[in-house]
Amino acid sequence: MEKLLSLIDSLEERHALSLTEYEYLIDNRCPEAARLLARKASVLRRRIYGNTIYVRGLIEISNVCRNDCFYCGIRKSNRDCDRYRLSPGQILECCKEGYSLGFRTFVLQSGEDPLLTDDALCDILRAVKKQHPDCAVTLSLGERSRGSYQKLFDAGADRYLLRHETAGKEHYRKLHPPDMSYDHRMQCLQDLRSIGYQTGCGFMTGSPYQTASDLARDLKFIETFQPDMCGIGPFIPHKSTPFSHMPPGDAALTCYLLSVIRLIYPPVLLPATTALGTIAPDGREKGILAGANVLMPNLSPVSVRKKYELYNNKICTGDESAQCREQLAKRMEAIGYEIITGRGDIIKTA
Ligand code: 5AD
Repeated sequence: MEKLLSLIDSLEERHALSLTEYEYLIDNRCPEAARLLARKASVLRRRIYGNTIYVRGLIEISNVCRNDCFYCGIRKSNRDCDRYRLSPGQILECCKEGYSLGFRTFVLQSGEDPLLTDDALCDILRAVKKQHPDCAVTLSLGERSRGSYQKLFDAGADRYLLRHETAGKEHYRKLHPPDMSYDHRMQCLQDLRSIGYQTGCGFMTGSPYQTASDLARDLKFIETFQPDMCGIGPFIPHKSTPFSHMPPGDAALTCYLLSVIRLIYPPVLLPATTALGTIAPDGREKGILAGANVLMPNLSPVSVRKKYELYNNKICTGDESAQCREQLAKRMEAIGYEIITGRGDIIKTA
C-alpha cells in the first residue's frame, strides 16, 4: 500500500509515471486507492472547471461502416444491423432542437460511411455553422486522409474525436482485422492535431485481451499526446459480433482510470460516457465523481437511436432529447454539479 500511495503522490506532483509504474498502479488497484485518486482528481477538476459540467449533443448521422472491428455492433459483417443515414435536413433539425435545449456543441458521429464524402460533409458543416455560429462542431467519423481532415476543418469543424482504441500494437491486432492499422490510426491523430483541431483520443476499458501493460501504454500515450479530450468507457459485448461471449468491462476500473487521466493531464475534457452509464445505473454520476467533466447525451432522432447499436442495452434509446437532458440535469444537481450552456472549450491554465 505504501508504494501505491507514493506513486499516487508522485503522479499528482509530476503528472507522469514510467510504464512500469502505471502498470503497478493498475495491477494494485484497490478501493482505498480509488477513493484517494477520485479525491485528488476532483480537486484538480474543480480548480479548473468549478462544479460545472459541459454537455455535447451527440448526433449519430450514419451507421454504415466499411470497417469490421471485432467489438463493434455496426461492423460491416453484421447483417442484422439495420443501416441508415440521416439527411442534411434531419441533421439540421437535430441541431435546432439541441440548440433550444441549451446545447452549444454538436458531435456528428458515424461509422466510416463511404457516402459521407468530403463535399457532402462540408455542405453539412457550413449549414450547421450558418444556422448556429455560436456553436462548436465536433466530428467523430473515423479514419480519413489528411486532405479530407483539412477540408472539413476549413468548412468549420472545430474538434475531432478518434479513439486510438489501444496503444498496445499487439492488442490492436487482436481487436481489428488485418486491413486496419495501428500506425495509420496514430497518424490520423497526429494529422488532426497539426491541422488545428481540438483532438480527442480514447479507448475501451476491459476490452478482450487487454492487459495492464496495454493500459499502461494507453496512459503513457495520453501523457505524451496531451489530448484535448479523452473518451473512455467499458467494453460491452454485442450479440452479433465475434466478441459476443467476451466478458464486459467494469465501471470501477473505468472510474479509476478517469481519475488517473485527470491527474496526468488536469485540463483534459473527460466525458462520463454512455457506455459507463449502460454498465452501471449510476455510472455517469460515478464517472463525474471520479473526475469526468463532460456528458454527451443523444440528440439523434428517436427513430434511429436503436439502430446505432455499438453494444447491446445502450441507455436512453427511447427517450426524447429533451427528456434526456432534463433527467441528466437533475441527476447532476443531486451530486452537486451543474450543467452549463456554452461551447465548453478546454481551459488550459499555465
Ligand atoms: N463496447 C463499448 N464501446 C464500444 N465502441 C465500439 N464498440 C463498443 C463496444 N462493444 C466504442 C469504440 C469506438 C466508439 C465510438 O465506441 O471505442 O471508438
